[in-house]
Amino acid sequence: MKELKPREIVKELDKYIIGQDKAKKSVAIAMRNRWRRQQVKDELKEEIMPNNIILIGPTGVGKTEIARRLAKLAQAPFIKVEASKFTEVGYVGRDVESIIRDLVDLSVSMVKAEKTDAVKEKAELHAEDRLLDLLLPSVRNRNQRGSNFAIDKEVEEKRERTREKLKKSLQEKKLEKRMVELSVPSDSFPMMQIFSPIGIEEMGINIQEIFGGMMPKNIKKRKVAVSEARKMLVQEEAQKLVDMEKVISEAITRVENSGIVFLDEIDKIAGERSKSGPDVSREGVQRDLLPIVEGSSVLTKYGMAKTDHILFIASGAFNVSKPSDLVPELQGRFPIRTELNSLTTQDFFRILTEPENALVKQYIALMKTEGIDLKFNVDAIKEIARISYEVNMRTENIGARRLHTIMTYLLDEILFNAPDIPDKKITITKVRVKNTLKDVVADEDLSRYIL
Ligand SMILES: Nc1ncnc2c1ncn2[C@@H]1O[C@H](COP(=O)(O)OP(=O)(O)OP(=O)(O)O)[C@@H](O)[C@H]1O
Ligand SMILES: [Mg+2]
Repeated sequence: MKELKPREIVKELDKYIIGQDKAKKSVAIAMRNRWRRQQVKDELKEEIMPNNIILIGPTGVGKTEIARRLAKLAQAPFIKVEASKFTEVGYVGRDVESIIRDLVDLSVSMVKAEKTDAVKEKAELHAEDRLLDLLLPSVRNRNQRGSNFAIDKEVEEKRERTREKLKKSLQEKKLEKRMVELSVPSDSFPMMQIFSPIGIEEMGINIQEIFGGMMPKNIKKRKVAVSEARKMLVQEEAQKLVDMEKVISEAITRVENSGIVFLDEIDKIAGERSKSGPDVSREGVQRDLLPIVEGSSVLTKYGMAKTDHILFIASGAFNVSKPSDLVPELQGRFPIRTELNSLTTQDFFRILTEPENALVKQYIALMKTEGIDLKFNVDAIKEIARISYEVNMRTENIGARRLHTIMTYLLDEILFNAPDIPDKKITITKVRVKNTLKDVVADEDLSRYIL
């Protein structure tokens, strides 16, 4: 796989996110810096620290969307978490170290998938052999009884021929429906939960692995169709061919050198420590985050992972709190601040039409499934954008999310009646938009509830 240049990253993001060029640029630079660091000579390499970023901007302007799209682009272990979901160590809940443990898990499955893919052909051959054995059980037992050698040989040859024929049919997928009996290990090991310093979920799995190995494997016979058996056998064979030890060490190296953590909603853990209520651990979570962002070793079920070079991108609306409400040490660990802009009417118009997942495109595709040809006139879309902006200004500014509410309200009748509409061509005009929305828009109370 090829590393994307910053310009290419921005171009990819442009397909889904309108505007916000500064934010796109800074995440693109940060991504590319990961790769650059990898190319630097050893000693200096250790010194180059990631420049963690905070994306700041009002609600609904694309912060999370940038993270989501970036995750798809990143050819690196990438995890997005909500900062508000964590609790201080000592309280019941998820501690921040679990972020790193999850990232390692993710990386392991990523590397494992790659390695499995690399041995796929070999595994398929092995699986085919085993399928043939299942379809044509061995005659060896009879051989051992020591009967007539000539007859045995004949039987053997005949069997070989049948096997070849079967193999051909198998490859031509003619036997997909045939049933075969397969031994499958049943994973009916009782779940155990144990509280421990490294977190509940972690131990649960470890205990299972430890005792699972000690107890006799529970093998069950199951009858399955050839098509399914093939899948199971390929998987089993691939597992035998992949060296898990190597997978794990590579996975950890990847996390340490190119891992990216996106900390969404970081503003939700900013602010004064309140004396009671669910907020008790806000500042505690921030303090717990410090060592991880700064660089420390985290114990995972695959071994230690160092966090020194993991890139952190935080984001938050910061409408109640400010970045300066974060504990100073944490502020210092996010040297790059990038602001996202509020969206304008013009932005709304583009968001409705341009992105690959644009709402207008979505609704057209949805209606197509009912055989309806839905069309939006350009000035109708402009009107939707204008109304969305206006409602945002008058009630609450929820950014591009407003487009969703306006669109569902606008299309309500059509969405409900679609299967029964005789007229298979529907065009949304400016007049229609105005008429459908005018009552709710005019009435501020109504728009608060409905839009
Ligand atoms: N600039 C944009 N371009 C395209 N779509 C956008 C843009 N901004 C927001 N959207 C759309 O609006 C919705 C909400 O955006 P997103 O989840 O990114 O908000 P956010 O900035 O993370 O807000 P919050 O602070 O509330 O978490 C998404 O469905 C997204 O597709
Ligand atoms: Mg968000």
